Amino acid sequence: MIMRNGIAMGKSCMSALAVATMTMAANFTPVHAGTLSAEQSLGEALFFDTSLSKNGTQACGSCHSPSVAFTDPDKSNPTSKGDNPFLFGNRNTPTVAYAAYSPEFGFDANEGLWVGGQFLDGRANGLQAQAKGPFLNLVEMGNSSRAAVILKLKNGSNAEAFKSVYGANIFDTPYKAYEKLATAIASYEKSGEVSPFTSKFDYVNKGQATYTIGEARGLKLFNDPMKGNCAACHISTASDDGTPALFTDFTYDNIGIPKNLNSDFLTNPAQFNPDGLNFVDLGLGGIVGDESLYGAFKVSTLRNIALTGPYGHNGWFDSLEDVIDFYATRDVKPVCTSVMLSSSAAVAAGCWPAAEFADQMNTDELGNLPLNKWEKISIAKFLGTLTDGYQPGGIPEPSTWALMIMGFSGIGARIRRRGRKLIHNGANA
Ligand code: HEC
Ligand code: HEC
Repeated sequence: MIMRNGIAMGKSCMSALAVATMTMAANFTPVHAGTLSAEQSLGEALFFDTSLSKNGTQACGSCHSPSVAFTDPDKSNPTSKGDNPFLFGNRNTPTVAYAAYSPEFGFDANEGLWVGGQFLDGRANGLQAQAKGPFLNLVEMGNSSRAAVILKLKNGSNAEAFKSVYGANIFDTPYKAYEKLATAIASYEKSGEVSPFTSKFDYVNKGQATYTIGEARGLKLFNDPMKGNCAACHISTASDDGTPALFTDFTYDNIGIPKNLNSDFLTNPAQFNPDGLNFVDLGLGGIVGDESLYGAFKVSTLRNIALTGPYGHNGWFDSLEDVIDFYATRDVKPVCTSVMLSSSAAVAAGCWPAAEFADQMNTDELGNLPLNKWEKISIAKFLGTLTDGYQPGGIPEPSTWALMIMGFSGIGARIRRRGRKLIHNGANA
């Protein structure tokens, strides 16, 4: 474990959410797959175009598959394989669904918190900037240059559509074509096809479905600051502009996740991971150059969470039940004295490994929660209502993503954050 001399950070939640009334105005109207704009349809095709990777085996959609809410369908590794199947990334692939709502990356001086951006450490400011990364990332799609990607695009099956959207001469300037490639993909990621808001939770809020007793109890515990307190960060109410709850406020926190010694990234060749087994993920702190934020990652949306395991930025958690137990007992159970390769091993052993950055982790809002076994199960049941594709009055069919299209307004709208303030405890003031 890395020791940081005396740097500790305290935050406290001044959530006014308490137990919110979950009714809201539904101001979005259904649209159908066919109503994607020409640019969005092109973006969709490019998102799933494997020919744009070095060896032709991988597209954005390979790691962000609609079959599991735009995450990696290959659950056999905590992080994702690249186009070169012997290379692995260092982070668990997050969902692309609802990412469009992340505001611009920046420091909110009022709240004393970093907020927004794309990637788990916020290093890309917006979807278009983000989409330029994976094509050239050597542990992802593996291309050597922008020009190499554009050459593939020019010779591939989407070339005509690309020209019809961006002009017949677009391939004459590869740099510009690369920008447009990212623009097209971002426009698709902003469509209602990627963020459909069709979960049971959404239908309950529109008065078209009813929770089971367990789900209703789970929601209450999720919101209750004296119980789960989850909504302090995973906002469960609609924003002022009517955007349905996104289950994240897009801020950053260190929740004390242990190192994942089972991560295949650790055994990547030295060229891709010079630190070997000693690799630590600094998270936001590494991007903004602030040691007190080492180990802080963006608050994940919990929409579709039942489909998107494994969990945590390094994929160490194998189940939602384990994540919830971790929030409740992180500071209660003893620290493990031997290596635990996954959360289920630690749960079986009755301990939790030390956090990767224990000195910086949040001890105010989580780590020791008064939740009994049944209450934890209820929270997991409630989280199960956040899966898109619910059929009100019928049986949910998660596989028919294309049929669950709902439009929505206000992409990129600023979301409402609770007044969660960073309080320096004197150690680093
Ligand atoms: C090899 C698997 C893989 C491929 C291929 C891939 N991604 Fe990702 N994606 C990831 C991982 C892992 C992260 C998190 C990385 C990080 O935080 O450093 C991520 C993050 C993202 C995010 C940010 C989500 C958030 O909540 O911050 C978006 C958006 C995204 N990817 C879109 C794309 C697009 C567009 C492509 C294709 C151009 C693509 N991805 C290709 C694995 C992949
Ligand atoms: C202080 C803010 C905060 C609170 C309170 C909080 N979370 Fe989180 N949650 C986060 C952050 C930050 C992450 C991402 C951490 C990481 O990957 O390092 C996260 C991640 C998660 C994940 C994993 C998401 C994924 O895609 O891998 C789940 C599940 C989750 N939280 C559920 C809950 C539940 C249930 C509660 C209440 C018992 C809760 N959270 C309370 C901040 C919070």
